[in-house]
This record gives sequence, C-alpha cells and structure tokens, in this order.
Amino acid sequence: MKRMLLWGLVAVSLSVGFTRRFDRDKVLHVKPQDESQVNFVKYLSSIVQLDFWRPDSAHAIVPQMDVDFRVGAYQTENIQTLLEQNGMQYEILFQNVQEGIEKQFDGKPNSSNRRHSYSKYNKWEKIVAWTANIAAKYPDLVSRTQIGTTTEERPMYLLKVGKGSVKKAIFIDCGIHAREWISPAFCQWFVNEATKTYGKNKLMTKLLNRLTFYVLPVLNIDGYVWTWTADRMWRKNRSNSSNTNCIGTDLNRNFDSAWCTIGSSDDSCSEIYCGPAAESEKETKAVANFIRHNIQSIKAYLSFHSYSQMLLYPYSYTYELAPTHDELNNVAKAAVDALSSLYSTKYKYGPSASTIYPTSGSSDDWAYDEGIKYSFTFELRDRGKYGFLLPENLIKPTCEETMLAVKNISSYILRYVS
Ligand SMILES: *[C@@H]1O[C@H](CO)[C@@H](O)[C@H](O)[C@H]1NC(C)=O
Ligand SMILES: *[C@@H]1O[C@H](CO)[C@@H](O)[C@H](O)[C@H]1NC(C)=O
Ligand SMILES: *[C@@H]1O[C@H](CO)[C@@H](O)[C@H](O)[C@H]1NC(C)=O
Ligand SMILES: *[C@@H]1O[C@H](CO)[C@@H](O)[C@H](O)[C@H]1NC(C)=O
Ligand SMILES: [Zn+2]
Repeated sequence: MKRMLLWGLVAVSLSVGFTRRFDRDKVLHVKPQDESQVNFVKYLSSIVQLDFWRPDSAHAIVPQMDVDFRVGAYQTENIQTLLEQNGMQYEILFQNVQEGIEKQFDGKPNSSNRRHSYSKYNKWEKIVAWTANIAAKYPDLVSRTQIGTTTEERPMYLLKVGKGSVKKAIFIDCGIHAREWISPAFCQWFVNEATKTYGKNKLMTKLLNRLTFYVLPVLNIDGYVWTWTADRMWRKNRSNSSNTNCIGTDLNRNFDSAWCTIGSSDDSCSEIYCGPAAESEKETKAVANFIRHNIQSIKAYLSFHSYSQMLLYPYSYTYELAPTHDELNNVAKAAVDALSSLYSTKYKYGPSASTIYPTSGSSDDWAYDEGIKYSFTFELRDRGKYGFLLPENLIKPTCEETMLAVKNISSYILRYVS
C-alpha cells in the first residue's frame, strides 16, 4: 500500500513536477457584437490579465470576431459576472484548463518514458533524437544540417528531404509559437509520410524526385521545451532582452517585414513583443539567413501554426493585396479543397490581414518580400473546442488532411513554377 502510494507520487512529480498549474482556470469564448462590446473586452483585459488564445492579443479584436481567452481561477467569477452585467454572451470552452492539459495526452500524462510517436506529442529530446534517426534510416532521402543555435544553446536541426541534388525547394517550419503543439507534430508527420511512401505513392515519389523539402521541425525550441517543463501556455521564446522582468520575444513578430508597426508591441511583457530589433532573436536570424542563402532554389515557404483552421497568405502588415494575390488565392483554394476532401474540415483562406488580423514582422510576409512568391501560413485544427489543447487522438486526422493540402501546393510548384 505504502509502496503504491509512493509510486503514485513519483509518477505525478515526474509528469507535472515543477510545472505551472492551471487548476480551475477557464477558457471563455465571446463574440463581441459591436464596437462597444469590443471596447468592453479590451477594458477587461486592461484590468485583469487575460491570456488571449484567439486572436493573440486584445488589440486585434474587432466586432463579430471569435475571441477565446484563458482566465485565472481566482478571476473567473468576477469576469463572468462582468460579462453578464454588460449583456455579453459567453461560452465556457474549458471549465478547468489543468484537466484539459492532462486530457490532451492519450492515457497517462507520464511523458518521461514515452517513445517517440507520430500520433503523440513528443518532447524536444525525443524530437531531436528522431531527426538523427530518420536521417540515418533514409540516407538517400533525408539529411540533417544545423542552421543555428537557440538562445539556450540548443542546436537548430533542419531536415533536407528529397532525392538527389537540390532543384526547386520548399521551406517548411513548425513551432514558431511554443504552445501550438499540433504544429511540430505535423512536421514530423510530413517527414515520416514522405519517407514511408516514397517509391509507393506516385505523387510523393514524383515530388521527392524533383523537389527538395527543407523541414524545420521546431523553430522556437526553447519555448517548446518551456511548454513541457514549466508553462504549457508559453508562446514566445525565452530570451531576456529587456531590463524588465519579462522574458521572450514573439518570433512571428520579429522578422524584417514592416517590423514592429502594426499588430505587435514594443512592450517586452506583451505576448506579441516584437523584440529589440528585427531579427534580434537567434532563431529568427538562423531561419532568415538560411533562406537568404538559398533564395535561388526556394520557391515556396510554408509555416505551421494553430489554431482556427485557416490558410493565409500575404500580406499581414497591410490590407493592400499582394501583387500576385489572384494566383495565391487560387493556390490556397485548391489546397483547402484538397484538405477538406478527406474529413470535410472547413478552412477559411485569404490574405492574413483581412482573414485573421493584421500583424507585422511575420515570417510569411518576410519570405514573400524576399521573393518567395508562394508563401503560406496554416492555422491548423481546431476552431476553439480544444484550442491549443488538441487531444492526441486528433493528431492523425489533422496531419492526414494537412498532407493533402501540402501535396497539392507542392505539385503546383512542381508543375507551374520555374
Ligand atoms: C512513468 O515514467 C517513469 C520513468 O520513465 C517510469 O519509471 C514509471 O513507471 C512511469 N509510471 C507510469 C505510471 O507509467
Ligand atoms: C532580464 O535582464 C535584466 C537586465 O540584466 C534583469 O534586470 C532582469 O531581472 C532579467 N529578467 C529576468 C526575468 O531574468
Ligand atoms: C528570444 O528573444 C530575445 C529577445 O527578447 C532574443 O535575444 C533571443 O535570441 C530569443 N531567443 C529565442 C530562443 O528565440
Ligand atoms: C490540387 O487541387 C486542384 C483543385 O482542386 C486539383 O485540380 C488538382 O488535381 C490537385 N492536385 C493534386 C496533386 O492533388
Ligand atoms: Zn502561432
């Protein structure tokens, strides 16, 4: 009996040991009907710390937008009362975020002894070992290079996937935002699917014979590690560039595209902090340098985020349409049709600024302005039921359908882009 009790304690401390807990924190959904309701939500966020899940800060809220935010347990009663007093309807997405965090794992959240799996969320040590293993297993198809190191000195490994020398290339990154776990899961799924079906699936074989895919499985590695070890809801990286107590830059506000103008913040405590300068972050710099060095061959840039089920293309930093808007729209439509063909998952698509909200310093705009004309950002599943806490049993369907979109875009590049 005593022994069992002890075992229980060990398991609990291994899995959730020193991490921040979210017991009885709630996630609320609101849809402000008009400007005054928008202002009310913004006002709430100024008096109480709200963790915005969608959009990623209060600034971006406009009427009729789906807005999800997490509220600390001790504030939920106040916030719900205030919403009710002001005639705002709300829905409770999570009654207890801590429970959601634990339910996200199939079975016990005992992550320390789990093997790497494509249908589970893998911690960084598992992913980094996997990058070496998959390159060793498929030496003709996959090679691993290091493009930089993170603030906390972790190596940033990039997988080059394809047969033979580089012709046309597609750059794919996952995990810019730490808490969007489905994104790194997709990058791993992609490489597995590519290697497993090469020589069997006709389209994949053709794609890998004639294109090179550069896959960065986790861009914000330090942040990702932090979500596993300390704070599941962490978004930014882990650098400390300011003389405040706030850590982290939003790497998707740190690229050199209208840097720190619209939809970002120069306050280091903000979740959308743009950093002290464009490309100030080592992770941003590593990716930007790699892309600049390979700009002749890279024809498409695909970046994976969650959540809200959207396929976005430039621009984010302006409502003006991109010069190649019509073509981007057609490619996005075809990709979304392909994606939806499997499970009827509904995706919106369009230019970022008007489809989601305006931001600056984002990687897709930067890539586009560097000359990569096929630049897309995916916001993967779901649309708020689980948000960042998408359960592991939804990894497979999410990745399967997303593969169809990526293959569709890739075959377009193969066929029409020189
Ligand atoms: C949890 O993981 C530890 C370390 O890998 C292992 O020894 C232990 O048996 C696991 N506990 C459960 C309940 O699976
Ligand atoms: C960040 O660095 C500044 C200046 O060195 C320091 O005052 C501050 O305490 C640091 N913040 C954290 C959270 O470590
Ligand atoms: C995080 O952001 C800081 C600036 O706030 C930057 O100096 C650092 O390189 C970044 N680290 C990572 C891992 O992105
Ligand atoms: C991509 O989607 C378009 C439009 O649905 C379709 O015509 C085309 O065959 C698809 N290509 C591939 C390779 O799936
Ligand atoms: Zn994101």
